[in-house]
Amino acid sequence: MRSKIKEILRFGIVGTTIEAKGWIRTKRVSKQVIFLSINDGSCQQNLQVVMAPTLLSEALLNQLSTGASIAVLGRLVASKGQNQSVELEGSQLTLLGIAPAYPLQPKAHSLEFLRTWVHLRFRTNTFGAVFRIRHAVSYAIHHFFHEHGFFYLHTPIITAADAEGAGALFRVTSLDAEGPARNPDGRVDFREDFFKKPTNLTVSGQLAAEAAAMGLGAVYTFGPTFRAENSNTPRHLAEFWMVEPEVAFNTLDDNIALVEELLKFLLNYVLNNCQEELAWLQKRALSSTNEKCVKAQMPLLERLAFVLAQPFVQITYTEAVDILMEARPNKNGTFVYPVTGWGIDLQSEHERYLVEDHFKSPVVVTNYPRAIKAFYMRQNDDGRTVAAMDVLFPGVGEMVGGSQREERLDYLQQAMQRGNLQVEDINWYLDTRRFGTIPHSGFGLGLERFILFVTGMENIRDVIPFPRTPGHVEC
Ligand code: 4AD
Ligand code: MG
Repeated sequence: MRSKIKEILRFGIVGTTIEAKGWIRTKRVSKQVIFLSINDGSCQQNLQVVMAPTLLSEALLNQLSTGASIAVLGRLVASKGQNQSVELEGSQLTLLGIAPAYPLQPKAHSLEFLRTWVHLRFRTNTFGAVFRIRHAVSYAIHHFFHEHGFFYLHTPIITAADAEGAGALFRVTSLDAEGPARNPDGRVDFREDFFKKPTNLTVSGQLAAEAAAMGLGAVYTFGPTFRAENSNTPRHLAEFWMVEPEVAFNTLDDNIALVEELLKFLLNYVLNNCQEELAWLQKRALSSTNEKCVKAQMPLLERLAFVLAQPFVQITYTEAVDILMEARPNKNGTFVYPVTGWGIDLQSEHERYLVEDHFKSPVVVTNYPRAIKAFYMRQNDDGRTVAAMDVLFPGVGEMVGGSQREERLDYLQQAMQRGNLQVEDINWYLDTRRFGTIPHSGFGLGLERFILFVTGMENIRDVIPFPRTPGHVEC
């Protein structure tokens, strides 16, 4: 019976006979003994296998290279090495799969290089740590909402709506892309298409979640979302995962309290349950020479503890602009995108200035200008701002976007008109305001942005298993 390395290292009993399986990370051979370090993905640490060279043929020994997979039967013994308390004294070794010319040799590879081997990078210390943490965070998200009485709602992937009204859509069609039927005016005739109308991959599950919250009270979606924005940055993906709670009767203040509680719960969960992974990532960041900003920041664990200990700062958009107008951000005291005054959309450099230089803490910015936010946000009494909230994090910028929703039918219709949105496309959504409308609020947390923060990784391509970005869809 095979034991997982995690169990062997934690609960293994010295003197018992066990079998371990895994991939060879390193091999050292001397006259008396062969050391093989193997990992099976169950934990950060490797298991050390020691064997007498006489037990292996020369041919087999040569095939035991980094990347090869093996099964080893033997006795668990106390280890003389400092890195582990136990090791496996192998008596029988079976080669499961050879790995000649394996590209990931046991040395520090750059993350850019590993992105060219995206399907193999799961076998490295860094990506093992990142994806175990990604799992832990996903599990903790479900745990949090379940414990808070939310229902997990599966919202559709294919929709006929543009939930953000921003037009960055991936079209879904069964029409022949080479030559779809055309209307007399030359436009594509979607009556010939599978759904008999234009459809796209969802940009957000929010509108469906709102409908469900108005019957189930509190729901959350947690699924993939798709945006065809041509944003080639370390923070944007074309396919990313979003967590979107939606709560009946919640105000903007309730929404802010919920997001802070959730983010701190998740941080705590990772700090308590992923210690080996965090220790590896911290060590890696401190020794990395190519990622420039890491060294200037606090070490990872300190940064997480620091964020956990502070209440999030809360300011209005108007206050944020006032701070930015006075700001002297870098050597020449200017932003790339100048802050010209009230009404500008905040760029990533502005958000990071507020968080990293001015407040040195996560910041919740509220009440943005109506003109730069989505149609569904509730208009404030001043007539020019909406009850929006963005949560900005150090190193990441925007982590969460949310709002209190416009529950008044006439205001919502006017906002749709201003945004040139077709009522027919989301008439069903307006029914939620026609029948028993209520104040309600929700937000969207970008899973990868959160994973960036907790792992201290720098590029969003390195926290999702198979990244999709403009021009790139490997695997
Ligand atoms: O601010 P966004 O666009 O808000 C919405 O989609 C709302 N419908 C959410 C809601 O209120 N239910 O996106 C929410 C979050 C952002 O704050 C960011 O963390 C993440 O989703 N995000 C992206 N992450 C990676 N790549 C992209 N291209 C992203 N766009 C947004
Ligand atoms: Mg946003």
